[in-house]
Amino acid sequence: MEFVDLKAQHRHIQTRVDARMRTVLEHQRFILGPEVEELEGRLAARVRARHCVTCASGTDALLLGLLALEIGRGASGSPDEVITTPFTFFATGETITLAGARPVFVDVEPVGYNIDPSKIEAAITPRTKAILPVSLYGQPADMDAINEIAERHGLAVIEDAAQSFGALYRGGHSGNLSTIGCTSFFPSKPLGCYGDGGACFTNDDALAGAMLELRNHGQEGRYRHTRIGINGRLDTLQAAVLLAKLEVFDEELTGRAEIANRYTALLQNAVHTPRVLADRTSVWAQYTIEVEDRTAVESTLKGGGIPTAVHYPVPLHLQPVYTGLAKEMGWARGGFPGAERAAERVLSLPMHPYLTPAQIESVAEAVKGAVRGPVGAGAGESSR
Ligand SMILES: Cc1ncc(COP(=O)(O)O)c(C=O)c1O
Repeated sequence: MEFVDLKAQHRHIQTRVDARMRTVLEHQRFILGPEVEELEGRLAARVRARHCVTCASGTDALLLGLLALEIGRGASGSPDEVITTPFTFFATGETITLAGARPVFVDVEPVGYNIDPSKIEAAITPRTKAILPVSLYGQPADMDAINEIAERHGLAVIEDAAQSFGALYRGGHSGNLSTIGCTSFFPSKPLGCYGDGGACFTNDDALAGAMLELRNHGQEGRYRHTRIGINGRLDTLQAAVLLAKLEVFDEELTGRAEIANRYTALLQNAVHTPRVLADRTSVWAQYTIEVEDRTAVESTLKGGGIPTAVHYPVPLHLQPVYTGLAKEMGWARGGFPGAERAAERVLSLPMHPYLTPAQIESVAEAVKGAVRGPVGAGAGESSR
């Protein structure tokens, strides 16, 4: 069994992908070819944003968003601050630091593991420029609450929607819920390409113009550089793959939701299963349970041929590279208990739209067998 079965997906979409790629091979416009613009139009329409700027990865998308907002070192030379979650993939904090700014962590909520809006305000200082929530595992963060705080304090909001493209929040689309939204097309993401890729969304014409230039060496026109940018363009071939995959994306999202529901039905009395809040949907980038003795469960499942993954074992405030910053900021173990507890307990199960009912059952049976004995009072608390 595969954790994410990209080969099964490719078999399903091969004809579409072949046709799209053949067109690119014929026109040979590998850099910013017509498929890039076509894709940007389709993605923007899907999330109802005025602009989509594709780029080379989700990491570049975050960096482009921060650079377009001119977040980095402030006029005094001291770093701007960006409030974010410590329970995320490293790129979220990394890009803030790369831009020259400083991540300021705020703990997560127990349901959904996204940043807790009720704790954000206490972290705002005169140096704060933006809030950067992550819509983890495919479920949007509480964007209305975050936007309301941001508006009151004159801050920008960048949604890290790397895992949540396709999800809905109160009728809006993840990626288009804030000043800028950033997503990733890493191959195993719900909408993935055949290599690295990403995109930014915004309704602000000036920010879109800035990101278009920044992704192409800060060029305002050919060989006229008005900003320090990056080589962050999406390859035309990747755009072609994404155009083919978009055709089956909705059907795949339905499949993901059905699989998640089936897992939950089978597992809810045995382990802590994930919960999606009533005002939003998840695209189930991960199906992540919580277990007490994770190492034992992981190894039992591995022995039974069931691959699992941990997203993510070390919260950002405890990453070695931030040791110096942690001293300065007073971050220590125990500082963000929600993130630390999750990092010790979470375990992601195989999740992709081509899992068969038999595979789902065998994963669930193996998980039930692997969790030691009957789970006590905490069992089945899927509503937590
Ligand atoms: C939450 C989050 N942010 C950012 C990224 C970075 O995306 P990419 O791998 O496309 O650079 C990822 C990808 O794994 C992610 O999951």
